[in-house]
Amino acid sequence: MAKMAASIVESGEDAFRKIFKFYKRRNPPPDFSDVVDFSKNAPSDKVVPAKLDASTMSDVEAARVGLQPVRAWRAFGLQGYPGFIFISNPFLRGSQPYWVRQCLKTYPQKPNICNLDMHMSPSDTQDIWGKSEHSLRVPPSGKREPKTLLERLRWVTLGYHYNWDTKTYSASNCTPFPSDLHLLSSQITAACGFPGFNSEAGILNYYRSDSSLGIHVDESELDHSRPLLSFSFGQSAIFLLGGTCRQDAPTAMYMHSGDVMVMSGQSRLLYHAVPRILPAPQGLGVLEMEGCTLASSLQESTVVGPVSEEDWAVCSRYIQSSRVNVTVRQVLGPGQNFPETPSSHQGTDTDKEVGYHEERADTENGKRKRGDSDTVDTVET
Ligand code: SIN
Repeated sequence: MAKMAASIVESGEDAFRKIFKFYKRRNPPPDFSDVVDFSKNAPSDKVVPAKLDASTMSDVEAARVGLQPVRAWRAFGLQGYPGFIFISNPFLRGSQPYWVRQCLKTYPQKPNICNLDMHMSPSDTQDIWGKSEHSLRVPPSGKREPKTLLERLRWVTLGYHYNWDTKTYSASNCTPFPSDLHLLSSQITAACGFPGFNSEAGILNYYRSDSSLGIHVDESELDHSRPLLSFSFGQSAIFLLGGTCRQDAPTAMYMHSGDVMVMSGQSRLLYHAVPRILPAPQGLGVLEMEGCTLASSLQESTVVGPVSEEDWAVCSRYIQSSRVNVTVRQVLGPGQNFPETPSSHQGTDTDKEVGYHEERADTENGKRKRGDSDTVDTVET
């Protein structure tokens, strides 16, 4: 019988790494019965209801960014992880396609920065969508075809652009943060008890079915009292949430399309990782239908505008095999400035950041860094 994750860890060892490898393994496939599924779970000994503040936004304000009324959100906490909030798909039917289209068509545009900029000229990465859409619109021929730029996209940064080499943000490397994502993030964080959250930096991660994201802590932001917000679209993932040290065995949970996660308080600086991408449980058929009917159902005052059938054809083809995750961060506290020179607490603790987008069977000793690769990105442990 396949072993469950909890039974493989011995005391004193790097439990996170062991469980990461457990869920990443293809052959034989792991036992997934320990994985928390918030889309199904009624509160249990592990999963507890999370308290939200429904007075922070009206139903109309929620709908403007594509969200259900706050009182309808299914929000949970996890026993042993104070400050962690999981909101199981709070989006209105028909609004996810807008956010998917933004992630694929709008946010990769200049002046935002992406992995392809590391080894391609600005004119080559100027119009990733335009250079990819035709190939993604025609049905696959069955022959091996070169990957489009969109399929080679691995990350995009927004606002204060994260520097993967120095693991810092800086005042000099900043472009305007998208206003729609800013509003969505403000609404959600306010309902979670963080009024005045200011979205200053975003990282979009684009996962193919064999991608993974290595074990790390997001600590480069200067104000850790502000939460970290995460949105998932497309295929599902296993997300591991650990402790403050690698010996703490992580909890595994599914992230499905539309799910939102807030890491705050004591959970803000915990180790986490994505060892595996999995097919969405019921496929993404519902999402696809919604994309086509969206145009007629939205009113003009909404931030979330209609997605054309043409655009949706490209998006839906892409997310049939991919997942997009968006993390939104406030970098500076109120009145705070960047230090003159990068200080040691700005994420220079390389020990904590062990790898990104591990796609090979055993990548823990990989040497490539995330910033300059469009395929596999790993950082040495
Ligand atoms: C991250 O930790 O930066 C992203 C996690 C995810 O893809 O869910």
